[in-house]
This record gives sequence, C-alpha cells and structure tokens, in this order.
Amino acid sequence: MGLSQIQWAERYRTGIPFIDAQHQELFRSVARVQEVIQSNGDPEAIRELMEGLLSRLQTHFRDEEAVLERLGYPDLLTHASEHASLARELQEMLDRFQGVPASGAALAATFLSGWLRHHISGEDFQYLAFLREHGIAPEQVGD
Ligand SMILES: [Fe+2]
Ligand SMILES: [Fe+2]
Repeated sequence: MGLSQIQWAERYRTGIPFIDAQHQELFRSVARVQEVIQSNGDPEAIRELMEGLLSRLQTHFRDEEAVLERLGYPDLLTHASEHASLARELQEMLDRFQGVPASGAALAATFLSGWLRHHISGEDFQYLAFLREHGIAPEQVGD
C-alpha cells in the first residue's frame, strides 16, 4: 500500500451505523482508485472505479440528507450545498482530464481524500452535536 493512500480511522466514527458503513466504503473506494493508478494505471479500470466512487458518493449524500431532513436538522441546506459543490468540483476535474483519466482520477482521489476527512470531522460532526442536544443516540438513527 502506497504512502498516499487514505484509510478510515476511529476518529471519523459518527456512531450512526449506516453512515459509518458508507464513509468506510468511500475511503475504501478512494484507496482502490489510488491502487490502480499506482499499479498499472489501466484507463478502463480507472474509469470504472471512478464511476463506482461517484455513484457511492451520490448515494451517501442522498441518504445522509434524507436522514437529516427526517430529524429536522436546521443546517440541512448548508450541508447539502457542501455536498453539491464537492460533486460539481469532482465532475469538473474529471471532465478537464478526459483524455488522461489517470491524471484526472489521481487529482480527484487526492482532492476527495482531503475533502472527506475535512467534511466528516467538520460538517458531519456538527449534526452529531445536534443529535446530542436533542438526546438522540446515534446508534438509534437508521437509514
Ligand atoms: Fe455530509
Ligand atoms: Fe457524510
């Protein structure tokens, strides 16, 4: 495993089972992209992995926003717009490097690994504070 590869860590645990499972899967997907880039860099494999990663990301955003809406989270709009601008930026990166998928994917993976760490410890942890204030145990929150 290369040095640049990212891994989920305990400090990113929200305590909400389905959210943690999705976050872990996102970290694994980014690591898989980085692995392929570092090994053979096969453009078709990279494209496929990136597509899978983007769709897992969209699923996560949709599920996370749905649960926040159900809980009446007051900062949902701000949170959702963070998700939307990340998705937009990633797509732009991939479009810009269409002819060189490995470069586009490398850039997107590096960007996304930083974004995930920052977003989970920042915005995602903010809704945990909201749950705490309302006496809702994260373990009880379902998808
Ligand atoms: Fe989020
Ligand atoms: Fe999240």
